[in-house]
Order: sequence, then C-alpha cells, then structure tokens
Amino acid sequence: MIAMRFKRAALVALVLTLAVPALADEAENEWDPLPPGDGAEETYYACNACHSLRTVTNGGYSREVWDDLLDWMVEEQGMEELEPDERETILDYLSENIGPD
Ligand code: HEC
Repeated sequence: MIAMRFKRAALVALVLTLAVPALADEAENEWDPLPPGDGAEETYYACNACHSLRTVTNGGYSREVWDDLLDWMVEEQGMEELEPDERETILDYLSENIGPD
C-alpha cells in the first residue's frame, strides 16, 4: 500500500515537472508556432484560417518570395486580400522572423 502511494506521488511529481514548464512556454508565446515579434498577431489571424501555421513556419523564404506567395495565396488559394498596411506588417514579420536561415 505504501509503495503504491509512493508511486502515485512520484507520478504526480513527474507530470507536474513535465507539464509546468510546457505551460510556462505557452504563456510566453501565445502565437506559437509563430516566433514572437512585431506582426506575429496579424500573421497569426491572417494565416491560420486555411492551414496550420506550421505551413507558414516551414517557409523560410526571402521577402521577395513571401511577397509573391501572398499574391499567390490571394489569387489562387482564395485568401482575402489584405489591407495594404496589414500586408506590409505581415510581410515585414515574415521576412524578418521566418526568413531563410
Ligand atoms: C484562403 C485560404 C488561405 C489563407 C487565408 C492562407 N493560405 Fe497559405 N495556403 C493555402 C492553400 C490552399 C495552400 C496549399 C495547400 C497547403 O499547403 O495546405 C497554402 C499553402 C501555403 C504555403 C506553402 C506553399 C508551398 O510552396 O508549399 C505557405 C508558405 C503559405 N500557404 C503561407 C501563408 C501565409 C503566410 C498566409 C497568411 C498571410 C496564408 N498562407 C494564408 C490557403 C490559404
């Protein structure tokens, strides 16, 4: 009986050690998997509707390619056209934070 209690306590401790840092990380970056940065919020909402944001973070493109890709998303994939200043914010964000390595 004592052994079982001990096991349960150990299990709870283990779950807490694993879960608490994970929760803390999540709180640090609410736009996960997008890296935090200016424009992360705009990008999150503009790009999350049709596909996973992993599709976006897999990108790693230069500004020029992101620029073309945003046009392609609008022309071929049915994305609603972004307001010019929003497009600029998102483009800055993408090329600065999800650029080539
Ligand atoms: C209206 C729907 C829609 C929205 C909104 C959208 N996309 Fe897409 N996107 C697609 C579709 C459809 C594909 C192709 C299929 C797939 O990869 O899931 C795609 C593919 C991609 C790809 C992969 C391209 C490749 O070469 O494989 C990237 C990168 C991407 N989108 C980035 C973005 C970004 C950045 C945004 C926000 C500015 C965005 N998408 C918003 C529909 C959308």
